Amino acid sequence: MNSVVRFSIMAACAALFVIQGYTQSDSGVPHLRKQGTATQLIVDGRPFLALAGELGNNTATSLENMQPIWPKLVSGNLNCVLVAISWAQMEPTEGKYGFALVDGLIQEARRNNLKLVFLWFGSWKNGLSSYAPYWVKTDYKRYPRIRIKGGKTLELLSTFGDATRDADARAYRALMRHIKEVDSVPHTVLMMQVENEVGVLRDSRDRSAPSNKSFAGPVPKELMDYLERHKDTLAPELREVWAAQGFRTSGTWEEVFGPGKPDSFDVPIQTKSPPMSAEEHETSWRKLHWPVDEIFMAWNYARYVNTVVEAGKKEYDLPMYVNAWLQQPNHAWPGTYPSGGPVPQVYDIWRAGAPSVDILAPDLYLEYFDEVCARFTRNGNPLFIPETSTNATNVLSAFGKFNAIGFSPFFIERSPAPDTDLSAAYGLVWQLAPAIAAQQGKETIAAVRLNQGDAPLDLKLGNYTMTLSYVGMGRVPIAPDQSAAPAAHDPKAPEAAAILIAAGPDEFYFGSVGGGIRIAFAPTTPGPKIVGLGDVQQGKFVQGEWRVVRQLGGDDTGQGEILTVRPNVPLRVTVYRYE
Ligand code: DGJ
Repeated sequence: MNSVVRFSIMAACAALFVIQGYTQSDSGVPHLRKQGTATQLIVDGRPFLALAGELGNNTATSLENMQPIWPKLVSGNLNCVLVAISWAQMEPTEGKYGFALVDGLIQEARRNNLKLVFLWFGSWKNGLSSYAPYWVKTDYKRYPRIRIKGGKTLELLSTFGDATRDADARAYRALMRHIKEVDSVPHTVLMMQVENEVGVLRDSRDRSAPSNKSFAGPVPKELMDYLERHKDTLAPELREVWAAQGFRTSGTWEEVFGPGKPDSFDVPIQTKSPPMSAEEHETSWRKLHWPVDEIFMAWNYARYVNTVVEAGKKEYDLPMYVNAWLQQPNHAWPGTYPSGGPVPQVYDIWRAGAPSVDILAPDLYLEYFDEVCARFTRNGNPLFIPETSTNATNVLSAFGKFNAIGFSPFFIERSPAPDTDLSAAYGLVWQLAPAIAAQQGKETIAAVRLNQGDAPLDLKLGNYTMTLSYVGMGRVPIAPDQSAAPAAHDPKAPEAAAILIAAGPDEFYFGSVGGGIRIAFAPTTPGPKIVGLGDVQQGKFVQGEWRVVRQLGGDDTGQGEILTVRPNVPLRVTVYRYE
């Protein structure tokens, strides 16, 4: 997308701000706001859909290294980048902070019309503590590590180190103070990720002496009270664990949540088959194993992270999230994935222990994309996906079905930016952004997936039931009598995804990626039964107004009788009824 188009789209978003009637007195500071069942990220008074990518862990450790990357990000239609800030690099000597890199990244992002989400690589990164400063790592008496089975230790700071927590919180607070100073206008930094994929690895819980003592003691009253208050809405997985102990309202961790991992069991690095049987491999990652250990760790990580988050928010109250390495086929047991991280089964423990954290976010590399999104949006958790693959159909599903705030493939600079399915999907969402943002969280937006050979799908949207059929990438029917002919089966036919938006009683916006989709309308309200196509327009939003690029009829609409949404072509369609 060239700079003129980028500018027009940004201006379109600005106009949306006016259309939706926000006033200048709205805080321009990025914040979260509910709209129906959705939670949106509001930046300078208007909803922002983050079409993002996360850089490799160390890509932004110098401005020089970033130079060739900025233009790539722009050409890939990104509007936002996730960039790590290393505690070790920012505070190489205790109490001496360096912000030159942060400043440079903000300036370069602005120059490229990009927004930023900073990732605070503090005490933990992928469970371990590789980004803690040297002065923390070497002073292991003051900043203790965890112990695992057999008393072994590893480079993983313990949540039971108050001095570690306080040092991390002090540094993070200094960072937020600085960002506020340099980024009050314009708002380039939108959100913060606090730590990265926290949790214990290679054992199901910390077995250091302070941890063992706490584990043998009572579940804190604060947590018990929270669980009792939210008993009816707890994640079903957690509720089951508690129910199995008779919903005890006090007692030790094992009395309330059942037995922990037996000493005899060694947690491997991965849970692969063999030694797991094929069946275990298929089912183990969907079950909980020694949930008490995971619950105990979740509480302790949540308390620690909450202290860091609150220290930062005291200076600058940006939305802050934590991200999860998910339980998955090769990482089925806690300890093979970080035990205590914000995975769905401990959602409530994190909410109780870290009330200042705004979002629990999945690093979503699994093929069960929609299933994971559904689990992460229970109980109103907003969806932000900080790490994922570049799958274009997932982009539409995230924004159209799960009201996502943002989508962000990992190591984005590795994928050549322009002419990819991802950049096409981002371009499509960007051009429809005002329409999407206006309907998220309501009954008037949906996204579907279709594959060749799938039966047509019925979807109710606005005053119509739409029957959606896959037409793939090939030639689309140009006359009604051709529409019935089945397309030849192509085993390589791509999955298609469509986003469908009802903007008014007879007005729709559509977009698809991966393949085309045919839409037939049937009214759901009394009146004439036949539905005709009114305007069919290819276009895009510019300064909040729909701008027509091509007015469609004839062959492009099956002579007025067939609506086909072709991949990467945003459409505005009005319909009417007759008899
Ligand atoms: C997940 C981590 O959060 C990222 O920082 C990165 O290390 C990737 N895994 C590597 O695949």
